[in-house]
Amino acid sequence: MRTPIIAGNWKMYKTVGEAVDLIKGLLVGLGQVHGREVVVCPPFTALYAVRPLLIGTNLALGAQDLHYEPQGAFTGAIAPTMLTDVGCRYVIIGHSERRQYFGETDTSVNRKIRAALTVGLTPIVCVGEVKAERDRGEAELVVGRQVTAGLADLRPAEVARLVIAYEPVWAIGTGDTATPADAQAMHATIRALLSKQVGAATAATVRIQYGGSVKPENIDELMAQPDIDGALVGGASLKAESFLRIVSFQ
Ligand code: PGA
Repeated sequence: MRTPIIAGNWKMYKTVGEAVDLIKGLLVGLGQVHGREVVVCPPFTALYAVRPLLIGTNLALGAQDLHYEPQGAFTGAIAPTMLTDVGCRYVIIGHSERRQYFGETDTSVNRKIRAALTVGLTPIVCVGEVKAERDRGEAELVVGRQVTAGLADLRPAEVARLVIAYEPVWAIGTGDTATPADAQAMHATIRALLSKQVGAATAATVRIQYGGSVKPENIDELMAQPDIDGALVGGASLKAESFLRIVSFQ
């Protein structure tokens, strides 16, 4: 049985004060939410400030990226232990915006996954095709390549600790969601790939989130699909009301 996991990716939004306010708003409603993991990924600058608010609650903290080296001369980068130091338990890796604007590759994704696992962080590994690739009928090929290369040489016990987020790039921030059936089909493809790589038993335990314009209006239908185990939510995670509705999916 896979425990559903919903994560809010705040991207480059929220000052410290705004982050604290949003967390307080979320905590008011989260007491009634059971049987699912709920994670927020604020910008780096807000992590330390929100941590004390989360202690003893059912809301967990994550970051949006990390560097794969343990420390060093990497101006502007954040080391894995810097994240655990401020209370993070999750880290998003390989988000399409990192791939598109910051040169993230499947190779760096692989190194970051290993670095995260080494310090006990749960990686949320993002994969997804762009519109032109889907139009050419190459979506499964592209996502398959990202999964295979991103997770290369990981042992089954390591893969079992991952969360994978399937985020079709054309659906991110556009209001355009994959249909639940299309999303389910890709999730099943990803699980079949994992099964080949690490065996069916491990593949059956890995949670696969859908991401891309998830909102209160479509979450129930998405979560009803057998291989959709959660959601990675951008825009709709920036307001307490909409994120609370999403984490309360039926
Ligand atoms: P969105 O973003 O929900 O705003 O489409 C999702 C994401 O980028 O993780």
